Amino acid sequence: MKLSHTADLWWKNAVVYCLDVETFFDANGDGCGDFRGLAQRVGYLDEMGVTCIWLMPFYPTPDRDDGYDITDFYGVDSRLGTGGEFVEFLQVARDRGIRVIADLVVNHTSSRHPWFQSARSSPESPHRDWYVWRDKPPADGPEGVVFPDQEKSLWEYDEQAGQYYLHRFYKHQPDLNVANPAVRDEIMRVLGYWLHLGLSGFRVDAVPFLLETDGALDAEDLPDPHAYLRDLRAYLSRRNGEAVLLGEVNLPYPDTMRFFGDEDGDELTMCFDFIGMQRLYLSLARQQAGPLAEALRERPEQPKDAHWATFVRNHDELTLDKLSEQERQEVFDAFGREPRMQLYGRGLRRRLPPMLDGDPDRIRLVYSLLFSLPGTPVLFYGEEIGMGEELSFEGRNAVRTPMQWSDDDNAGFSTGDPEKLVAPVVQGEYGPSKVNVASHLRDPHSLLSWMKLLIRRYRQCPELAWGRYEVLPHEAEQVLAHRADQDGGTVVALHNFAGEPVEVALRLDGVESGDRLVDLLGDGVTPVGDGRVSLRLDRYGCRWLRVVKPGEVFLP
Ligand code: GLC
Repeated sequence: MKLSHTADLWWKNAVVYCLDVETFFDANGDGCGDFRGLAQRVGYLDEMGVTCIWLMPFYPTPDRDDGYDITDFYGVDSRLGTGGEFVEFLQVARDRGIRVIADLVVNHTSSRHPWFQSARSSPESPHRDWYVWRDKPPADGPEGVVFPDQEKSLWEYDEQAGQYYLHRFYKHQPDLNVANPAVRDEIMRVLGYWLHLGLSGFRVDAVPFLLETDGALDAEDLPDPHAYLRDLRAYLSRRNGEAVLLGEVNLPYPDTMRFFGDEDGDELTMCFDFIGMQRLYLSLARQQAGPLAEALRERPEQPKDAHWATFVRNHDELTLDKLSEQERQEVFDAFGREPRMQLYGRGLRRRLPPMLDGDPDRIRLVYSLLFSLPGTPVLFYGEEIGMGEELSFEGRNAVRTPMQWSDDDNAGFSTGDPEKLVAPVVQGEYGPSKVNVASHLRDPHSLLSWMKLLIRRYRQCPELAWGRYEVLPHEAEQVLAHRADQDGGTVVALHNFAGEPVEVALRLDGVESGDRLVDLLGDGVTPVGDGRVSLRLDRYGCRWLRVVKPGEVFLP
């Protein structure tokens, strides 16, 4: 592998950090986070080891779906700052070598978007065909309402238009008609605009729904929707060769693979591994490595320059929709027994630490997995300090509370009136007096310090990001053992899902007598006899080990 490749394909070993500007840091004291505030915190993210910031939607919005309901694709929500302040933030990030990507939400607009206002006003409107209309809601339309607690149908009658329109999500989010070439062109312009301002790509919202044309009247006559995704990617790459599309595709593996495109990966650059994430929780619930190991073995290899994106939590519910009913129930029983913790019958509106009863060993185990499993790790703000959820907030808002910077008023997030904060701060056990950045920064044993170590090691081990992976067979069902090999280097990682210590016997092909295994997350050197080795793990313990040959110098 040439060194230059590793820099060109920067996303392969990136550390992505997702945040919502409005809940990150408020610089002007009005109670709402802003771009000036975020710019002041870029140094914190850089010191942690973050290499790419993913901005959740920051566009003008009536904010009825946390900004995923947009009224102007070319604007900045005035609560968050001006276009100038957005660009200043990009400049500060660039100075630190941090790339920035943003949510691209073009499956739908807000119903208040001027395009929809125009579309509904008259059948003659130039925007009428930018949305999907019907005189009668089709019986054979797309199945599956995404938010079943609030919506009963995918079609809503609009008085003004005298027709029904398609909405995959809330009824205030009418779906754009991507079968219409004018809509496709406009989406390209949206991409072009933000790329030109300095973004390095997009997290593409709801990709399968975006490409869906079942709602279109002449669906059979339409060109392959994947041709559109290919066009989008080609355009993106022409404008900026290093830009990426990170797609939200929550489908079984074989279906997700189609969104990477052909063997060279000409569609999405990265897809989130929703299946691996759900199986990880099943493994945690069962205290057995099996479900996760199975997912890793099943997961198809992505095209050469593409990558999976791994994650533990995000801004939505922890969806368990791809588990069987019985498996989902096991996870509910372990991590969210109470109905108020569950959402839509398929997920949990919780953050990780409270689900694991705040057990520090177990929490560390999970992040060690995140950084050592194959795929680009994506963190959701606050995970690095072990923030908890606030179940008294509605729906998914339970996990969208202000970042906890210190134990000051408003968690140091804002100097504004606590009554006027954009979202209330978490109270109780996970409140800012116990969980905050300032105290984590001071404590070498904090979760944040652990996260920094994991990030440093992950960036130092090209095998983890670039290598060939193998789940290793052994006798201990509570342990996941895997190895990554690249250019003669080998890293082995072990994770114990159970609450008791365990000893694991492994055979490491290609490792010879005289080689040593050097611990990367702690001290320790284990001699290997003839490719065989026995390794001890603490309760919920994890180890990363580098194979070091005789005479080879290892720098920790
Ligand atoms: C995606 C987002 C979610 C949003 C939905 C509609 O699934 O992750 O937060 O509500 O799209 O845009």
